[in-house]
Amino acid sequence: MPPRVKEILEKDFWRKEDIARLLASDEDEIIFEKAAAVKSAHVGNKVYFRGLIEYSNRCAKNCFYCGIRSGNDKYTRYELTDEETLTAARFAWENRYASIVIQSGERSDAAFTEIIEYLIRKILEATGNELHITLSLGEQSEETYRRWLNAGAHRYLLRIEVSNPALYKKLHPDDGLHTHATRLEALAALRRAGYQVGTGVMIGLPFQTFDDLADDLIFFRDFDIDMAGMGPYIEHPDTPLYRFRDKIPSPDERVRLSLKMVALLRIMMKDINIAATTALQTLDPLGREKALRVGANVLMPNLTPEKYRSDYLLYENKPYVHDDAGACGADLESRILSIGNRIAYGEWGDSLHFRERLNQVVSI
Ligand code: 5AD
Ligand code: SF4
Repeated sequence: MPPRVKEILEKDFWRKEDIARLLASDEDEIIFEKAAAVKSAHVGNKVYFRGLIEYSNRCAKNCFYCGIRSGNDKYTRYELTDEETLTAARFAWENRYASIVIQSGERSDAAFTEIIEYLIRKILEATGNELHITLSLGEQSEETYRRWLNAGAHRYLLRIEVSNPALYKKLHPDDGLHTHATRLEALAALRRAGYQVGTGVMIGLPFQTFDDLADDLIFFRDFDIDMAGMGPYIEHPDTPLYRFRDKIPSPDERVRLSLKMVALLRIMMKDINIAATTALQTLDPLGREKALRVGANVLMPNLTPEKYRSDYLLYENKPYVHDDAGACGADLESRILSIGNRIAYGEWGDSLHFRERLNQVVSI
């Protein structure tokens, strides 16, 4: 007889079959309870804010699942002006968010490298070096990663998207620009450069199995990541993957699976930072709060100026008309309080896992 969920939850180390069994089980509540207890014991009930600035939707890549892929000509391509970027960063600082994320479609030309370096320096200057900056700007050379780190960036998010190389191949064009090996090498370069490194996956993709998702969690553990951002895959009509939309789990099922992935990762990697993602909120208006309850500890309120939001739709129904930015205060705060968490205003909320690794290196 296969081990029961309760028995697996008591083990110190999970093998792939344990994780796949937990993902397939319908005993969600005891998994969620355990994850909530681990969160409370190891990272506490604080929620760290990262103000999200979607800097540009220009992208050289053409991923089959993404709305802003280069092959989609339905969006007007934009980038924020320097002033718009600085205003958004200042908003974060003045509202005591302590951290921002600069995200963009992928470009690696010299002009892009330079403007990002310039903006990092300007933002730090304008905020008295008090903001921590996370970058989410795709695959770059190690030299570029180092340049941006030297300019003052602290953390980097680069999702592996899926850890199974065969599935990666199915979800990306075979044009030399989209290889799993390059993605892995980019993650290794980020680690060598000295960033706090975050990665993540999409959940509920066509062709994805419980075994794939179990491998994703094992990948995070083996790579010893500092931060994670995972969310449900959401179909977008102007993408090639849309025609497989009848091959994906229902929205409710994708939310449930995503919450389980968050909970299992919290139990496996007790002191990392885990984001409650916008994609979860898209499929369930309370999705982010539910993720916070079962292990997530980071939220990314969107600070992109409203006029650009309808051009940064990675997937359909992404909430954008108005959400967290100005209105954030009361509404978001009360929802966070209602689940027994509180916002850690003015705290950087660095990954405890990263700090711990640094301490070990120093003491060797
Ligand atoms: N559904 C959900 N997430 C998506 N992303 C891109 N397209 C989609 C989609 N259709 C995610 C990818 C990428 C991040 C910026 O957005 O994981 O890394
Ligand atoms: Fe570009 Fe990222 Fe979208 Fe791929 S997922 S098309 S790299 S923005």
